[in-house]
Amino acid sequence: MSRLVVVSNRVAPIDEGKQAAGGLAVAVLAALKKTGGIWFGWSGTVVEEESQSEPRRTDVGRLTYATLDLSRRDFEEYYNGFANQTLWPLFHYRVGLIEVSRRTREGYKRVNGYFAEKLVPLLRPDDMVWVHDYHLIPFGEELRQRGCTQRMGFFLHTPFPAPEILVALPNHRELIRELCAYDLVGFHTQVDLRSFADYIRQELNGEVEDRGPEGGMLIHAFGRTLLARAFPISIDTENLVGIAETAVRSRHTERLKESLVGRRLIIGVDRLDYSKGLPQRFQAFEQLLAAYPEHCNRVSFLQVAPPSREDVPEYIAIKRELSELSGRINGRFAEFDWVPIRYLNKSFGRRVLAGFYRTAHVGLVTPLRDGMNLVAKEYVACQDADDPGVLVLSTFAGAARELDSALIVNPFDIEAVADALQRALTMSLPERKERHAAMMRTLRSHDIGWWRESYVDALTRAPYG
Ligand code: UDP
Ligand code: G6P
Repeated sequence: MSRLVVVSNRVAPIDEGKQAAGGLAVAVLAALKKTGGIWFGWSGTVVEEESQSEPRRTDVGRLTYATLDLSRRDFEEYYNGFANQTLWPLFHYRVGLIEVSRRTREGYKRVNGYFAEKLVPLLRPDDMVWVHDYHLIPFGEELRQRGCTQRMGFFLHTPFPAPEILVALPNHRELIRELCAYDLVGFHTQVDLRSFADYIRQELNGEVEDRGPEGGMLIHAFGRTLLARAFPISIDTENLVGIAETAVRSRHTERLKESLVGRRLIIGVDRLDYSKGLPQRFQAFEQLLAAYPEHCNRVSFLQVAPPSREDVPEYIAIKRELSELSGRINGRFAEFDWVPIRYLNKSFGRRVLAGFYRTAHVGLVTPLRDGMNLVAKEYVACQDADDPGVLVLSTFAGAARELDSALIVNPFDIEAVADALQRALTMSLPERKERHAAMMRTLRSHDIGWWRESYVDALTRAPYG
């Protein structure tokens, strides 16, 4: 069997207790643990001098990490710049937030070339290269320009925007040409896949052969043929069910329960990112307390929000906004013995989170746009099947396509989210059990193993031309 070489900007720390908050790292770690292979990417370290070192290699069982530092300039132009101030807002439909600069676009290309140059000597002829996310779209083309003929796949962890949005990017055609250098391009949902196919048809006059939901779409563009298909990412369901069962007895969970003194708990867990709809979510909780005052002093809302991309101005702004908002809402409703919103700017490991999810009566997941959202899936998997909590889920999360037994909401409609919270808090046990069981069936049949195997299987069949 071919060796799997995974390439991503963010590489999960080896110590799972220090797990990086972020769906890509969590999912790739879960997928690679079973197969082994190479995981190549950024070390997470920024150095002052120009980065020209060789990758640092660390072996953990059958998995080899090979990581590179970024220079300050590369970090600014590639990571903070083009990846997180141009592509991230664009792919999340926030055209008003995109920053357009030739300097950062060039930095993005430069780092992709640099990473490719450093990977080439590590590659064997029959390796399969699997590249992840928007930081590394040009990576495959950079490898091919260096003579690599291996099968190459790409998976996008964010939404893929409608063509009308994508064309706001200068040189969008070049970016899509780079994407088309892969043999296989994976998206989370059929909606993302359709947007990609629409771009190919509308903007390039390319040909698209639809082979149905399981078969994906064959794309003919830029003189190449590739397969584009939806592979909804998932979680290690059985493993997490087991973790949640033991985590309920952990010290953290005990302390959380003691602090609630019988009150009910709503939980949110998100990187501190403007795509997650946190201000609207805080306002929806405020609206719940205003419209249904019986919940005052009876319900607490715990929002875990570890800071993310802290050098980017929009992230600095959202952090300030949330501090003010939580302060104002708490000032308005708090009692001397009750704080409505517990707002935490720090991250927790997966075991602690599992206990928190299981303790919470409602999981509140309301992004304005999200590729998939693993937290929604994790919340469901961690529930006690005999007395499960209720998931309130944004229709704009990829997860809503699969978890349609959640209470699906429009996160912009604050009053409707408050009503959904009221419904969740008063839902009968039989209805909660029925909804939970339906979602668990999906999470068991489509877990992280399914995601990895179906993607790798499709990549094994490449080339498609
Ligand atoms: N996460 C974590 N600790 C935290 C917050 C989040 O380990 O304090 C994990 C969370 O359990 C999930 C991932 O980070 O696995 C977030 O993935 P998701 O798809 O929900 O959102 P993303 O951050 O990728 O946009
Ligand atoms: C999202 C992106 C990932 C990224 C993660 C955390 O999940 O799709 O590529 O790793 O957020 O963000 P960070 O910038 O810390 O890697």
